[in-house]
Amino acid sequence: MMKDTKIKRIKTGIPKLDSLVEGGFPKGSIILITGPPGSGKTILGLQYLYNGATLHGDKGSFISFEMPLDEIYLQSSQMGWNLKDVDNRIDVSFVKSIYQMTGSSILEPIVKTIKESGSKRVVFDSSNSFFDFFIPKTLKSQPYLGSAGYNTLVRYAASYLIGELRKLDATIILISNSCPDKDSGSYSYDGVSDYLCDGIINLNYLNMGGEQLMSLEIPKMRLTAQEKEFIPYKITNKGIVLNTTEKSSLLMK
Ligand SMILES: Nc1ncnc2c1ncn2[C@@H]1O[C@H](COP(=O)(O)OP(=O)(O)OP(=O)(O)O)[C@@H](O)[C@H]1O
Ligand SMILES: [Mg+2]
Repeated sequence: MMKDTKIKRIKTGIPKLDSLVEGGFPKGSIILITGPPGSGKTILGLQYLYNGATLHGDKGSFISFEMPLDEIYLQSSQMGWNLKDVDNRIDVSFVKSIYQMTGSSILEPIVKTIKESGSKRVVFDSSNSFFDFFIPKTLKSQPYLGSAGYNTLVRYAASYLIGELRKLDATIILISNSCPDKDSGSYSYDGVSDYLCDGIINLNYLNMGGEQLMSLEIPKMRLTAQEKEFIPYKITNKGIVLNTTEKSSLLMK
């Protein structure tokens, strides 16, 4: 008998995004969302959790190393998403007290809390802010470390983080700033997350004859036949909205 190879998909609930990836992210995958400041990474993550809770009854956890709680709630309510009004299905944590902690002890309590919450959807915002906690500032400023040494630490921190996230029984969005080296061919800040994650969604600004166009591309999605085009999108007061009728496949990066 043929084995059932059908993969369970976790829908983002974002109109048109799901249809670009065969209906949703493969269940249990870690999807990297990359992009420059203001490109909508955090909003996309919140939308994923809110839609999960309201449309699919999924519990979700948002781990913020960046925005404090009141800002997250404010940003969400601007989009019409009342995170507190979804039957306790969404936990939002702002990792601040962790400032006193160092090294590997940072992630353990986070992973434990998410496991205990039973969250099926997790958003981690963001890996590069996590690196700031993980790699002590005192170490960063050591002249003997140099940029090569710092990059090695960042790559180590990224693989440690992703290894810990793999222990969760959840479908995860991992947010990362864009790679500072535009010529590196990497999407993520650290370079290795591109390989270690199961999928990549890159948000970017394209310059079209002096006009800025926001565009989404999916360079990678394991186990999925996916569109490789650049899809224009907008951030509206209802969140991320894709425009698939106007593909910018002819535009070059
Ligand atoms: N109510 C709103 N309506 C429309 N657009 C909004 C609204 N609120 C925020 N935005 C847009 O969303 C952007 C912020 O999105 P978001 O915080 O998700 O970006 P980000 O990629 O996470 O940025 P960063 O890397 O700085 O964290 C703002 O710069 C603005 O352009
Ligand atoms: Mg953000």
